[in-house]
Amino acid sequence: MKTAITELFGIQHPIIQGGMHYVGFAELAAAVSNAGGLGIITGLTQKTPELLAKEIARCRDMTDKPFGVNLTFLPSFTAPPYPEYIAAIKEGGVRIVETAGRSPEQYMPVLKAVGIKVIHKCTSVRHSLKAEKIGCDAVSVDGFECGGHPGEDDIPNMILLPRAADELKVPFVASGGMADARSLVAALAMGAAGMNMGTRFIATKEAPVHPNVKKALVEATELDTRLVMRALRNTERVLKNKGVDQLLEIEREKANTLKIQDIQEQVAGVYPKVMVDGDMDAGAWSCGMVVGLISDIPTVKELIDRIMAGAELIIRQRLTGFLDGDEAQKPVRAVA
Ligand SMILES: Cc1cc2nc3c(=O)[nH]c(=O)nc-3n(C[C@H](O)[C@H](O)[C@H](O)COP(=O)(O)O)c2cc1C
Repeated sequence: MKTAITELFGIQHPIIQGGMHYVGFAELAAAVSNAGGLGIITGLTQKTPELLAKEIARCRDMTDKPFGVNLTFLPSFTAPPYPEYIAAIKEGGVRIVETAGRSPEQYMPVLKAVGIKVIHKCTSVRHSLKAEKIGCDAVSVDGFECGGHPGEDDIPNMILLPRAADELKVPFVASGGMADARSLVAALAMGAAGMNMGTRFIATKEAPVHPNVKKALVEATELDTRLVMRALRNTERVLKNKGVDQLLEIEREKANTLKIQDIQEQVAGVYPKVMVDGDMDAGAWSCGMVVGLISDIPTVKELIDRIMAGAELIIRQRLTGFLDGDEAQKPVRAVA
């Protein structure tokens, strides 16, 4: 399949693995790129720019295909040295950066000067248009369903994607709620040129996280995510657990007087506890509603291959079948 995204990034399939804190290590990024998608290392999971340089080198040892690095600009207890991280990306020869959180405007000149392609993750049409205006090559349009930070507008992808298609000139991928062949075909139908998956990629053999995390994803349903930190305008969709229950209780008590310090225990330093130690009740970690569509732990290649095969089947048989009048009665179960 060829789309504006496969052509822009030089990849075989229009499938991107979004940056994920404590998940997006070289192992996962390389597996996704080797399977024909675009793997992305999460820059800030590496505690220093030097460590990011090493992670990039490790990834390069595992794949000769294109891969990217995610740079997230979110409120944090201490601001990371972004220019040094960008230098590590540049010197590591990485040519694709996924940005997220705040606008990457101030870093665009340095990224563009060395020919780095930038895909910015946006949760609204207005932010997507801004990304286009400041020279981003593509946008990852992240609907309300998404794991991580869905923004404050709460617009699901059924609305957000066609709205983005109506307004944007640069190509965009659908992000949030994407899991299988049906997601990909639906995203393409709504005007996207591919899809970005986060949560689904955690439940794969290569994702370098504790087995408890993968088990929790297989067991959870679409009813098991919660929104936290809304009062701080830093809303995050997370998987429900005991730590998250405590967090929500504190949020109820404090209401509009909530400060980040009130919930530090439930949000700071949680990722290593969950992803490394497998402590599933530690607190808030991002997870999308798409968890309801996850029921197995395939290899990344199995996942991507069945998405692409399933997408072809849906397009060639189911959709054209409707036009030919011979598919009317057939359900489209999880072919992927
Ligand atoms: C565990 C986890 C950690 C994430 N960490 C980051 C991050 O550090 N930076 C970022 O830009 N997005 C992060 N995301 C968001 C993903 O890149 C992606 O946009 C999102 O997961 C898409 O929604 P989905 O989970 O429904 O596929 C994270 C998502 C998950 C599930």
